[in-house]
Amino acid sequence: MNINDIKQICVIGAGNMGHQIALRGALSGYKVICTDVSDEQLKKAEAFADKYLPGRVAKGKLTEEQAKSARENISFSSSLEEAARDADFVIEAATEKMDLKLNIFSQLDNICKPDTILATNSSFIVSSKIAGSVNRPDKVVNMHFFNPALVMKLVEVVKGPHVSQETADVTMELARRMEKKPVLLKKEIYGFLVNYLLASLTRESLYLLDQGIASAQDIDMAVENALGHPMGPFKLMDLTGVDLSYHISMERFLETGERKDMPSPTIVEKYVRKEWGKKTGKGFYEYNK
Ligand code: 3HC
Repeated sequence: MNINDIKQICVIGAGNMGHQIALRGALSGYKVICTDVSDEQLKKAEAFADKYLPGRVAKGKLTEEQAKSARENISFSSSLEEAARDADFVIEAATEKMDLKLNIFSQLDNICKPDTILATNSSFIVSSKIAGSVNRPDKVVNMHFFNPALVMKLVEVVKGPHVSQETADVTMELARRMEKKPVLLKKEIYGFLVNYLLASLTRESLYLLDQGIASAQDIDMAVENALGHPMGPFKLMDLTGVDLSYHISMERFLETGERKDMPSPTIVEKYVRKEWGKKTGKGFYEYNK
């Protein structure tokens, strides 16, 4: 598989990450089919593309032709079979549940052409945990984008022990062609680079909140105005999803059994109440839906 062989991409999941990864691919000239089990999610993703592209033209960030061509490049389908059949590269951005990912990858192995690379955008599941479910483990790789995926430049590519050099090289180059800045992790590590680092800030911020030392708003204010981060940890969790923070902590805790990895009481409470951030209209802040 050579980078120039990649013409068509399948993005699985039209949610928080998938709809923007798909659009980024289409903007970079790839034919992209975005698929999801939820028709409602697919409709939302299509509506986003229909609003975003003209918005970029109005802002002078895209020409009419670029927007038109990106819109023609992207399509939406509720059929995994249809979306993945002719894909040269698959980016899975489905819900962060291990059994779901294993099921998707074993289906992909049957549907896709033998050379197709199967990447996961998972925030924390290393691809060696998924590679056993397919007959092409050398072609299963982490390709991790950041939220909002149309804006954030970084992509982490992780070369687990089963990943071929060719797969790592093609994935790095695809990220570059999608106008991202890829970094290569030479070994698998939980959280990769960014979430590994971010976890400590988030954990300590939740500790300060749970101890009643300061409000979420004031902790965000401190991080933004003293450390220069564009968003404090609570605003960021609202953006990426409090449900995701819960799943990340829970998976980690089940793996290590260490107290520090347990989801904080606030996260558990917000998870149960479905206060998941922007996507549900309320998290640490309130949003107009
Ligand atoms: N979707 C697409 N584009 C968006 C967007 C969104 N949700 N939000 C903002 N943008 C674009 C705007 O269109 C604008 O583009 P332009 O400058 O080219 O016209 C640009 O981003 C700046 O937007 P705004 O001026 O409205 O807002 P801000 O300057 O406040 O920027 C932000 C918004 C880019 C989200 C900025 O606050 C930021 O960088 N926040 C930090 C995000 C971050 O840390 N992401 C990583 C999260 S960790 C992660 O994803 C890992 C995962 O595994 C959990």
